[in-house]
Amino acid sequence: MTWHGLLRSQAARIGLVVVIGLAAIDGAGLIYAGMDRMELVRLAQARAIGNMVISIYRTLLLTSPADQQQTIAALKTPKGVQVAVTPDPPGGYTLAPAPIARLLRADMSLVPLPPGQRPHQFVMLGGFGQHLIIVGVHLPDGNWLDVAAPVPAPHPWTMPNFLPAFLLTALLSSILALWGVWRMVRPVQVLSAAADRLGRDVNAPPLPQGGPIEMARAAAAFNLMAERIRRFVSDRTFLISAIGHDLRTPITRLKLRAEFVDDEEMRHRLLSDIEELEAMVNATMAFGRDVASSEPVTAIDLAVLVQTILDEASDARPEVAEKLIYHGPEHLRVQARSLAMKRAISNLIGNAINYGGAAYVRLEPPAPHQDASPLGTRAVRIIIDDEGPGIPPEELPRVFDPFYRAEASRNRETGGFGLGLPIARNILRAHGGDVMLSNRPQGGAKAVIVLPV
Ligand SMILES: Nc1ncnc2c1ncn2[C@@H]1O[C@H](COP(=O)(O)OP(=O)(O)OP(=O)(O)O)[C@@H](O)[C@H]1O
Ligand SMILES: [Mg+2]
Repeated sequence: MTWHGLLRSQAARIGLVVVIGLAAIDGAGLIYAGMDRMELVRLAQARAIGNMVISIYRTLLLTSPADQQQTIAALKTPKGVQVAVTPDPPGGYTLAPAPIARLLRADMSLVPLPPGQRPHQFVMLGGFGQHLIIVGVHLPDGNWLDVAAPVPAPHPWTMPNFLPAFLLTALLSSILALWGVWRMVRPVQVLSAAADRLGRDVNAPPLPQGGPIEMARAAAAFNLMAERIRRFVSDRTFLISAIGHDLRTPITRLKLRAEFVDDEEMRHRLLSDIEELEAMVNATMAFGRDVASSEPVTAIDLAVLVQTILDEASDARPEVAEKLIYHGPEHLRVQARSLAMKRAISNLIGNAINYGGAAYVRLEPPAPHQDASPLGTRAVRIIIDDEGPGIPPEELPRVFDPFYRAEASRNRETGGFGLGLPIARNILRAHGGDVMLSNRPQGGAKAVIVLPV
């Protein structure tokens, strides 16, 4: 399937939307987790700073003012942390945001201190945005203890398992989503295949009515429709057969009575008319039988069938044998009703011979990249050209009417009753195909049979 074709597929569209949606949700989830992690890292950073400040403060409480500088220099502080004792509170940075200040203050209040020694004045500057937090604590001797601690930005996106986690969850959820979509559109494909089958064969087996309730209902409605079509077709066929059957008795009676006509010539004419009538009734009944045909669909070799018809025709009509030419593959398998198909093609080749004095038959296998019909089926074509007068353009729309015969061919020698074309078209349509008649620009008629494979 091409990209264009793929994008026209409902399954592909839904699948695409679902997969993009899932990837977005997956990404959002991971971003949320990352932000949460960042929050945690900052909480830990603030807590560590608070604890450190108070422990330095406690150490300084126990140190005499003279030894303060020495003690500070000897402190083991994490990398980048600067500690100083100054007469003034720290400055140079904006005040830390209230939540950070609250956090620091709460943590500092948790560290145990001798009674009455808890600091009362704090200054908190900086923040995570500035990658530095400065805490100033007022010492009992009036000086300020300044601790400046760097807070490196947490990097949740460089977490080693972020990308694999994202890819794995995205992949798994995509597979699941695509499978679900496929399951969803599958019944539609089943339904369209069933409709296609019904078009070729009214007696196609009914759809199974299982599965989800909506599908079961659609299948039931489809089966009901198929049943109505079947009944409609069989009612009409039955009507044709019944009329044909009932006409036989009066025709036989007429024949008997005609025998008693004394005038020889009159009797002869009467009998020939009655015979024609009888033949028409028989043809009508055969027409009805074809519609109701229950011949099974099997694999047949269309190429061999066409060649056989031509061989039989050249045996029957040696005078035109040179103008019965087949052009096409040696073998071509299709699914069809063998007898009916032979009948349809014989009708058309017979017409070409009878009215056109030749039959140049071409069999075209389905092209590999044939323009796909809405059902995505491909078709073989059989083209039958002849060399006759063709069909008058104004009569073209009527040639498929039952009992229609062009004025020029109204003689009993060249054929039957004008049922050949309607029967052929009936048979081909029952196979999901069709037949079209036209005139060739260089003269003669052209019949084109299309048959889906
Ligand atoms: N190849 C053709 N060239 C010219 N006229 C044609 C051709 N095919 C059909 N026709 C015209 O269409 C009419 C109807 O054809 P159709 O096959 O239905 O009946 P038929 O051949 O007359 O009788 P039947 O096929 O029932 O024995 C023909 O009588 C003929 O006038
Ligand atoms: Mg005919």
